[in-house]
Amino acid sequence: MDIIVKRDYDEMSRCAAEHIAALIRKKPDCVIGFATGATPIGTYRELVRIYNEEGLDFSNVKTFNLDEYLGISMDLSKPYILDQSYRRFMHEELFKHININEENINIPDGLARDPEEECLKYEEKIKEAGGIDLQILGIGGNGHWAFNEPGSSFDSRTRVIKLNEQTLNDNYEAFYKKAGIPREKMPHYAITMGIGTILEAKSVLMLANGAKKAEIVAKALEGPVTTMVTASSIQIFKGKATVILDGEAASMLVKQTIK
Ligand code: PGA
Repeated sequence: MDIIVKRDYDEMSRCAAEHIAALIRKKPDCVIGFATGATPIGTYRELVRIYNEEGLDFSNVKTFNLDEYLGISMDLSKPYILDQSYRRFMHEELFKHININEENINIPDGLARDPEEECLKYEEKIKEAGGIDLQILGIGGNGHWAFNEPGSSFDSRTRVIKLNEQTLNDNYEAFYKKAGIPREKMPHYAITMGIGTILEAKSVLMLANGAKKAEIVAKALEGPVTTMVTASSIQIFKGKATVILDGEAASMLVKQTIK
C-alpha cells in the first residue's frame, strides 16, 4: 500500500486527480469507479481543469459509482441543493463539465422498481465491462467504504443496506442541513457496491482529509482488519492500493510518508 501525505486539501486533490488522469492517458477506455461525498469534490474540480487545459479525453472512459440513496434519483427540475441524489452530485461536480459519454456512466438506480434485481444487474454490468481498473474511495466517519456500514462482510456484493445513525448524522451535517431538508426526510436506505465487489477492482485510490478523519484513518490503515471498520479491508486488498491524505487526516498514523 502506498500512503502519500500532502500538505492540505488542495494538494491532496491535485495529486489524486493526477493519479486518475495518468490512468486515463495510459488506458483511454479504462473503467473508473467514482465516489461521492465532500472528500473528492476538489479532485473532480482538478480533473475538470485538466480536461479544459490539457485536453484529457474522457470519451471512452466507463464509470461505475459506488452507491446511491434508495428512493431518489436525479431530478434536473429541482435546484442542485434540493436534489441529493448521487447521480446529480456526479452530474454537477464532474460529468457535465467533461466529454464523458452518457452511455458509459453507471450509477445504481435509486428508483428501481426491484432494487434487488438492480443490484444483480449492476454486478453483471461491472463484469461485462471487464471489471473496475481504478476504484476511488473516501472513508466514512464510522470507517465505511461506500455504504458498507460496520459489520458488512468482506465478501458482500452490491445490495440494499440500511444506513446507520452515524452515517445519517454525518451526511445530514455535510449535505442535507444546508438544503433545509429535515433529518427524518433523508433516505435511510441505499444501494451500495459490496466490499467483495470493491476488492475485485484492479486498483484502489482512497482519499481522506481533515482532523476529524485522523482516528478512523489510523484504525483502517494500521489497526486490526475488521468488518467493524470496512475500510480496513484495504489491508487485504490484492491489487495496487494508493492512499492520499492531507496532513490532518494522517496525523494519527504511526508510519508517515511525506511526498
Ligand atoms: P465524506 O464521506 O467525503 O463526505 O467525508 C466519505 C464517505 O462517507 O465515504
